[in-house]
Amino acid sequence: SRFYLPRETTALSLGADALAQQLQASAQTQQHNIELVRNGSRGLFWLEPMLEIETTKGRVAYGPLVKDDIDSLLATDYNQGPTDHPKCLGLTEHIPYLAKQQRMTFSRAGITDPVSVSEYQQYGGFAALKKAIGDNPQTIVDEVKTSGLRGRGGAAFPTAIKWQTVKDAPGEQKYIVCNADEGDSGTFADRLLMESDPLCLIEGMTLAGLAAGATKGYIYLREEYPVAHQTLNEAIANAEAENLLGKNILNSGRDFELQVRLGAGAYICGEETSLLESLEGKRGLVRAKPPLPALVGLFGKPTIVNNVLTFAAVPFIVDKGGEAYANYGVGRSKGTMPFQLAGNVKRGGLVETAFGITLKELIEDFGDGTYNGKALRAVQVGGPLGAYLPESLWDTPMDYEAFTAIGAGVGHGGIVLFDESVDLSQQARFSMEFCVAESCGKCTPCRIGSTRGVEVIDRIRAGKNTEDNLELLSDLCETMIDGSLCAMGGMTPIPVQSAVKHFPEDFINNQTEAK
Ligand code: NAI
Ligand code: SF4
Repeated sequence: SRFYLPRETTALSLGADALAQQLQASAQTQQHNIELVRNGSRGLFWLEPMLEIETTKGRVAYGPLVKDDIDSLLATDYNQGPTDHPKCLGLTEHIPYLAKQQRMTFSRAGITDPVSVSEYQQYGGFAALKKAIGDNPQTIVDEVKTSGLRGRGGAAFPTAIKWQTVKDAPGEQKYIVCNADEGDSGTFADRLLMESDPLCLIEGMTLAGLAAGATKGYIYLREEYPVAHQTLNEAIANAEAENLLGKNILNSGRDFELQVRLGAGAYICGEETSLLESLEGKRGLVRAKPPLPALVGLFGKPTIVNNVLTFAAVPFIVDKGGEAYANYGVGRSKGTMPFQLAGNVKRGGLVETAFGITLKELIEDFGDGTYNGKALRAVQVGGPLGAYLPESLWDTPMDYEAFTAIGAGVGHGGIVLFDESVDLSQQARFSMEFCVAESCGKCTPCRIGSTRGVEVIDRIRAGKNTEDNLELLSDLCETMIDGSLCAMGGMTPIPVQSAVKHFPEDFINNQTEAK
């Protein structure tokens, strides 16, 4: 029988390798003939390490497994479908957390061996590339336009407009750059995709290359993702070996070469212009826009910079048609979003679903509340630069415009839960402190303002002249919003102001000594 055990970071950190060894050893001792595939993860993190077995009824899941479960598992009739083993979760596809999702970008995650080109193709991979390779590049851009896809890194800029700009820009040399510097706290969708289905990203970037007339691409990967690094490099080599990437793709005369470059731990290098500086070998300082990277990007050439999830959405769109994608979602938020449940959550993991689901449905129906069972008090959506939202706003649908209307953002889809013990004044302080640590230093409101922000919040927390200091904090936030060059300084006030607005009691009555 075929057994599947993830080689993905979450599963590995929970002991998947030791489990794999135990499985091989026990199977040998008990003379079971098993084939062990190291797949990606389905993203049901609270069930990892999750083992799947191919049975006559479909794949059956077991988890979360420990080594001691292996012998009893092998003693069951595991080939015949779900068993009465205490860790049996039934057919994987029937696990409600998965069954309720609409997986398009993550349709293959956890199903295939992530670096196997043949398995990728078996599940629809490279169908889009084969379809598009002989097409007019404009057809690809038009399909993306029909899909309504918007940048999944957080800014939600219409992808087709960016691609069109690069396509139409004059110049022989153009570049495709993938922003895989996933720096937002509580987010992991980029990593999960790269570790579970890297060929999908590779195909998406290749399609961007064909559309824009770019022959070179770079994946700028944060160095904290060693498993993704390894998986991407293996997948790139395998795609090249099959003539699906590199020179003369599918003997079409079209080239697209792809390389991975590692970052060095700076959050600001996730901002597209400092990312380009870093790729060029310089310090990650933010560039002023305009000119836009679409016109003057990597090495001064027209460049498409998109997030992992944006590129990874494209193979589906080109293969199935933009309309098939646009059929999902609400308003101008088309298609699906891979939401990520993290923090104090019982069922952390990836939830890819159409826009329009409410925040409450995500945190309750999928997340099942807090991990420690305490009452949920605040939810931060969209990473460290996202707003803290109180219960009265949890009915907001996940939709870019609806979130803007409440002074928040969907961002990269990170959702972090905090229980009743959270102190929002401390969280606001953390936002400013984070900006102190991660500011690139180019502009004053961000570089100095964040330090002053920590100080003023400390005074508020110490109960000193609370009203005056809250006013000062508000002024400081306005200055940072108006005077910062990029989102780092410009968006740090969002978590701060949302904390003050929605949780004023944590600022007004807080007499705790500042830490
Ligand atoms: P932005 O709004 O300045 O730009 C969005 C994108 O559209 C950029 O690629 C820009 O070059 C492009 N663009 C804008 N106008 C264009 C035009 N007329 N033609 C062609 N391209 C055009 O936003 P920015 O600064 O790139 O990103 C900010 C967002 O990043 C925030 O909303 C935040 O949610 C997100 N973020 C994500 C993180 C992550 O780890 N994924 C970390 C930190 C922030
Ligand atoms: Fe650098 Fe901050 Fe200015 Fe952005 S806002 S350019 S991170 S100093």
